[in-house]
Amino acid sequence: MAWYTGNALYDTLLLIGFAYALLVFAASFVGTAAYGGRFGLKGKKQGIKLGSRMGWIIMELPGLMVFPVVYFMGTNAYEAVPLFFLAVWMMHYSNRALITPMLMRVQPGTPASFSFNVIIAGWITLFLHGYFNAAYLTEYGDQYTLDWFSDPRFVLGLIVYATGFGLNIHSDHILRNLRSKTPAPNEPRYKIPFGGVFRWVTCPQYLGEILSFTGFAIMTWNLGAVFVLAMTAGNLIPRALYTHRWFRKNFDEYPPERKAIFPKLL
Ligand SMILES: NC(=O)c1ccc[n+]([C@@H]2O[C@H](COP(=O)([O-])OP(=O)(O)OC[C@H]3O[C@@H](n4cnc5c(N)ncnc54)[C@H](OP(=O)(O)O)[C@@H]3O)[C@@H](O)[C@H]2O)c1
Repeated sequence: MAWYTGNALYDTLLLIGFAYALLVFAASFVGTAAYGGRFGLKGKKQGIKLGSRMGWIIMELPGLMVFPVVYFMGTNAYEAVPLFFLAVWMMHYSNRALITPMLMRVQPGTPASFSFNVIIAGWITLFLHGYFNAAYLTEYGDQYTLDWFSDPRFVLGLIVYATGFGLNIHSDHILRNLRSKTPAPNEPRYKIPFGGVFRWVTCPQYLGEILSFTGFAIMTWNLGAVFVLAMTAGNLIPRALYTHRWFRKNFDEYPPERKAIFPKLL
């Protein structure tokens, strides 16, 4: 089925991708993905489990690999606008796949709880995401001439992306610093975060992630980027609601005015 780029494989995979995003969103009402300490797999009988750091690195590595491989197969790979997006992509995924996991502070004795099923789901998303965007940027998209740098969609998208990325990094930084660099075994594992956008919401790191993919979709103006925005929002909005509920249940003194992810709204 060729309805977007004219390439039947691309267009069919894009449809499948959107159906998959819908499925992930529906599934998130039943439970959130089993990674991270609060929501990780517990018990002995539930499949392969990894430590958080290793789980994150293995899951996110295709983000650093698929995109550049497909990118350099494209006709316009050495044009200025696609090269700019390549730089944005590599920065984003270097942070997600390498920097964030390396900086993560794991309490000694924390059992491995990062589900291998989550890694498989992450790989599917990253393969599709990398292929859709790299192929569109260097092969199918015809808007990426030098004029694109002054197009209002590019300028607005870049501002939204930079705001979201900055918010994500800053919020991750606050969360990380709630634990000491080498946490003592008896240190409380979780504390209430304060500062920055935590003043208004429980999960500003997720809000930042959603904003950055919104900005990426606007500045590249392609449906492949909308696919990953749908996946991210479908995963992180419900996860923020679970996290918010978890804080309220576990901390009596949790600030009552805080929302889960969107200030004053949700
Ligand atoms: N694009 C996507 O679809 C997507 C999906 C998921 C995540 N992400 C991004 O990946 C990053 C990490 O996500 P995540 O879900 O693992 O985030 P998270 O729950 O915020 O956890 C991040 C780190 O902070 C620790 N932590 C969290 N809350 C804490 C607290 N109250 N006190 C002390 N330490 C705390 C966690 O420890 P524990 O592991 O021990 O809980 C973990 O090491 C975020 O920037 C997120 O936006 C993106």
